[in-house]
Amino acid sequence: METSQKEHWNEIYAKKANTELGWYEAKSSPSIELIEGCSLPKESRIVDIGSGTSILISNLLALGYQNIHAVDISNVALQKARTLLGGEEESARVNWIVDDITNPSAVLELDNVALWHDRAVFHFLTDENDQKIYRSTIEKMLMPSGFLVMATFALSGAEKCSGLSVQRYSVKSLKDFFGDGFKLIESLEHIYEMPSGDLRPFTYVCFQKG
Ligand SMILES: C[S@@+](CC[C@H](N)C(=O)[O-])C[C@H]1O[C@@H](n2cnc3c(N)ncnc32)[C@H](O)[C@@H]1O
Repeated sequence: METSQKEHWNEIYAKKANTELGWYEAKSSPSIELIEGCSLPKESRIVDIGSGTSILISNLLALGYQNIHAVDISNVALQKARTLLGGEEESARVNWIVDDITNPSAVLELDNVALWHDRAVFHFLTDENDQKIYRSTIEKMLMPSGFLVMATFALSGAEKCSGLSVQRYSVKSLKDFFGDGFKLIESLEHIYEMPSGDLRPFTYVCFQKG
């Protein structure tokens, strides 16, 4: 029987310590710098899609952001992420949402999103229809002038991650995919060093809607 995406990710998060994950970061950089560059009020709604156990949530809380939504297909990841924060009180300051971005439901309740963040999630969507659903969900959920901060494997990056195929992107191919409704504000190439010491080139973009 084929393993579902949810089972696949739940298994990984159940098996591995956070610091062993092939995408672990001690600081969510350069995401956090790109997010800060958007100069949003601290009460703005921020969605981190495919949040996993990312340190981004802790970094956002430390900077005073108050309206954070961590979304992931893996309930195991989000449960772990809660325990990695500094206790129940801190965890209660975040909205934890289990949802599948290729078939979204709870995410669709989140209107007026000021910033949508995605590090290493969109590139797993290799099916054209899933990619279209993803783009139209962002278009729907983002408020006018809202921001999309995204990191994908670069064209020179790996073809697989966690045993799954990925689609790799340049700044241009991301721009072409998201189209005229999204203005490119900033972009950069970033070399991420995995816990194993292997290097993974990423493409980072910040788009603004409208
Ligand atoms: C490579 S990890 C990146 C995690 C996190 N963004 C980070 O930078 O540490 C990919 C994450 O996307 C989640 N994910 C994969 N497919 C998803 C989907 N269809 N909907 C929501 N989350 C998904 C996985 O559970 C996993 O946490």
